[in-house]
Amino acid sequence: RADFHLTGRSTRRIVILGGGIAGLTAAYELGKAGYDCTVLEARDVSGGRNLTIRGGRVEKDLDGHTQRADFSSGTYLNAGPARIAQWMVTLDYCRELGVPIQPFVNANADTLIYQQAAGAPVRFRTAKADLYGYVSELLAKATDQGALDTVLTAEDKARLLSFLEDFGDIGPEHDYAGSPRRGFASYPGAGEDRGSPLPGPPSLSDVFASEVGRYLSFEFGYDQAMMMFQPVGGMDRIAAALTARVGRQRVRLGAQVLKVTGGPSDVTVTYRQGGREQTITADFCIATLPPHLMARIPHNLGTNITAALAAFFPFAAGKIGLEYRSRWWENDERIYGGSTQTDLDIGQIWYPSHDFHAPRGLLVGYYHFADAAEAYGALPPPERTARAITQGVKIHGPKYRTELASAFSMAWHRTPHLEAAWNYAPWDDPAAFRLLLQPAGRVYFAGDWLSQAVAWQHGAFLSARAVVTALHQRVLKS
Ligand code: FAD
Ligand code: PHE
Repeated sequence: RADFHLTGRSTRRIVILGGGIAGLTAAYELGKAGYDCTVLEARDVSGGRNLTIRGGRVEKDLDGHTQRADFSSGTYLNAGPARIAQWMVTLDYCRELGVPIQPFVNANADTLIYQQAAGAPVRFRTAKADLYGYVSELLAKATDQGALDTVLTAEDKARLLSFLEDFGDIGPEHDYAGSPRRGFASYPGAGEDRGSPLPGPPSLSDVFASEVGRYLSFEFGYDQAMMMFQPVGGMDRIAAALTARVGRQRVRLGAQVLKVTGGPSDVTVTYRQGGREQTITADFCIATLPPHLMARIPHNLGTNITAALAAFFPFAAGKIGLEYRSRWWENDERIYGGSTQTDLDIGQIWYPSHDFHAPRGLLVGYYHFADAAEAYGALPPPERTARAITQGVKIHGPKYRTELASAFSMAWHRTPHLEAAWNYAPWDDPAAFRLLLQPAGRVYFAGDWLSQAVAWQHGAFLSARAVVTALHQRVLKS
């Protein structure tokens, strides 16, 4: 349990730049200790990248494309964060803020792998059975033939073989000849109905040639392993709960920071809100803007600060939500949550982890990065949808087009005030990273980019905690 609170109180004034998870958390934790916080947020909603798109939401991108979400009531797209691992502090905030959570299906043996060279999708369970089967066969035979005698005792060999026989479902001769683990064309049923097996397995050589193995290790990651979780009703429930606790009057929306001036005893921030330039002066400032955008804001904190901020590399990602009139993936294809992985430019297709068997539902029709995200992001939104649908039809057939109700796409690197999905630290320049972990006078920096969990809210929460702790200690000392 990771409950957090600052010990001792203060009524100092703090101005916080950016109302994403890091900025809101800083305001929330400092507020609990008595501080007088004001958050300046350029967008018309708090949360930053913690963004859930619902019907009626309008987004205009940097290329002038305007989209209005047409999703029906209750349908939403978590356009940014979508999943939370069990160990992440994000779940502690859900508990503390009273945000209910539900399972997020991050890996599912019944989803598909689609590779262009194969031309037809294969279920994860089939790919796993074949790959684990053949790898077990090879290792068992090498062991039988004495190839590992220099590294294994007789006892080791016996234990390894018994593991491989089970792990790969290989026979007594240590040949892999298929397994019920592959799944069935029709599943076993009543009486003597043993079901009908899928055709196959393909040869060992064909299984390796298909390269399905590259999709199998994703769920081994400490950050991506089942079980994962999501807030009930949308990821933005976290940002909304934080905003409510901070106090809506303390979070100024549509307030774009223009300039930061640090002084010996305070910090003055110039911002524009409602077309009017204003200033606010506080004892301290916490800057949580994306670093490459903060680098462009005039300040008197030193050119080394600007250079360090500008060294954080902005990374592109895109997501599209496709609302369907029916849940054909559940009803016809027996896929309940999880994701299909592809080598197409859509990257992956996600199936919803909630509202199973509801009349309608929303798929993530692409979630991709770097070049693919930039290629789709450069298109007008209707063309992004058309391209995503053409790709999805290859996997799921014509209903992928005919059942579509509406679409909404997010190109994060083309989104005003964010201009990236996330920023990677310059690992060839650790001094830049370390410089920004320290305050520049009375200005502190926070965000997932200043953590070891980039692209996770966990990193933003913990970075905010680290900064408010340091700031509070300084205040108590002075
Ligand atoms: P931000 O949310 O970027 O906050 C910065 C704020 O500054 C923004 O609100 C911005 O509008 C504001 N701002 C910018 N310029 C100005 C200005 N001049 N004046 C005033 N305000 C300004 N995390 C997970 O936990 N799970 C996931 O599954 C996950 N998936 C992700 C998928 C995608 C596609 C993306 C984009 C992110 C994902 N993340 C995920 C990461 C998560 O969204 C971030 O780690 C977290 O939201 C970052 O919070 P932050 O406060 O550091 O930054
Ligand atoms: N946290 C993001 C997500 O889960 C980005 C990410 C993708 C991080 C893959 C690590 C691995 O989608």
